[in-house]
Amino acid sequence: MTRTWNVQTINKVGETVKLNGWAHCIRRMGEKLVFIDLRDRSGIVQVVCYKPDLDEVSLKAVDEVGGEYVLEIEGVVQKRGEKQLNPDMPTGTVEVAAKSFKVLNTCKTPPFEIDKDTIGVNEELRLKYRYLDLRSERLHKNLILRDKVETFFRGFLHQRDFLEVETPILTKGTPEGAREFLVPSRIHAGQMYVLPQSPQQFKQLLMVGGVERYFQVARCFRDEDQRGDRQPEFTQLDLEMSFVEREDVMNLIEEMMIEMVKTVTPEKRIQQVPFPRLSYKESMEKYGCDKPDLREDKNDPNLLAFCWVIDFPFFEKTEEGGWTFTHNPFSAAIPEHREQLMNQENIGDILTTQYDIVLNGYEAGGGSIRNHSADALHKVLEIMGFNEEQIQSQFGHMLEAFSFGAPPHGGIAPGIDRIIMILANEPNIREVIPMPKTGDARDLMMGAPSELPEKTLSDVHIKLK
Ligand code: AMO
Repeated sequence: MTRTWNVQTINKVGETVKLNGWAHCIRRMGEKLVFIDLRDRSGIVQVVCYKPDLDEVSLKAVDEVGGEYVLEIEGVVQKRGEKQLNPDMPTGTVEVAAKSFKVLNTCKTPPFEIDKDTIGVNEELRLKYRYLDLRSERLHKNLILRDKVETFFRGFLHQRDFLEVETPILTKGTPEGAREFLVPSRIHAGQMYVLPQSPQQFKQLLMVGGVERYFQVARCFRDEDQRGDRQPEFTQLDLEMSFVEREDVMNLIEEMMIEMVKTVTPEKRIQQVPFPRLSYKESMEKYGCDKPDLREDKNDPNLLAFCWVIDFPFFEKTEEGGWTFTHNPFSAAIPEHREQLMNQENIGDILTTQYDIVLNGYEAGGGSIRNHSADALHKVLEIMGFNEEQIQSQFGHMLEAFSFGAPPHGGIAPGIDRIIMILANEPNIREVIPMPKTGDARDLMMGAPSELPEKTLSDVHIKLK
């Protein structure tokens, strides 16, 4: 018999079904009757085991069954009596009368209760046993929400002729502001790959490659100090388009977010459409920060206040008195300031095409129109104090690529974890990342990072100090 999902039982009254799942909750009522809430990915259904109806093997299994045991049950779906109806349960109108009952696997006593919300349980314990926490309703719902959001984004972008392209994970360092994770090369002694902070350079090279509209649900790696809205590996909806201006990218993202909320979380309300736009200067003056929380009612769990922040300064002073970029070295200056950039005049006043999308006080994404001419990128690097040798060794490949007919292009990368965290009303992104790291970047489930045998290190030419 093919297996029936628990929630499908509501449409199968009178039919014999085979169910699989975990014993979520067991209630033994006197000598003859055992009620089991059977949980599978779809939800919970009540199974009634009336012992006189069961053969000897099933009977033994019913007597032995414990919490979280893995079960296979065949039985008949029946309507519940008027008094047994449970409106809080999607399958609350039916129950399954077991005819055969099999234990497929036992379960040790879990280190915390899975049939209740686990938010109050020690987080290190939850992270060590993430596979158990994922069985809990809230985390399970978060996984489903994540799948829905990513599926929506993919569909939306495919409909608009975007191509999903995978870009390398083993790559070369790029100065995008964060410290990078290093991967030593075995074949090339003393040389390292780094893990990408974002696919920034690859997506620009895809534009040179004529892809025109690219996106990727992209894993990014940054060796930064952790916060509730930061993880060392996280996911961006990375995208890039050729032949566009700032407005084109912003309008596309605005439409995508509005449609996504309507489709995936229709219970939510977007406070203001079109999304308000603030210049960096306005935002700092009015709200004292560049990611203002514009919600009228911060206690309303269904209120989403998006806004755009634009016109950021391109450069800021370093402690040493030089200049560095504020957001992205590959950005172009706003059209009115391009000449200023080329002449390297009034550097502190040059504004970038950078646009950040802010949601409920979080930076939910950022992007810009890029410098597609080698000259302009070269000027930016000069302003930042790179000498010609450094420019060639770190950026030579980009400058060369741009010399082969690079189209004007721009893009953005919404942070998927943060968006889902806000949609799910979770306090941090760890709750919406399937297998996250701790606040100090450890994977407690796998035990990473970990020490390695000397031989493994010497194979990659590493000797520890
Ligand atoms: P940026 O560095 O602003 O831009 O990143 C884009 C978005 O990614 C999310 N984000 C993070 N989420 C979780 N943990 C982190 N450590 C983390 N860091 C960033 C944020 C942020 O807004 N290449 C450019 C994008 C572009 O210009 O197209 C970039 O990576 O939501």
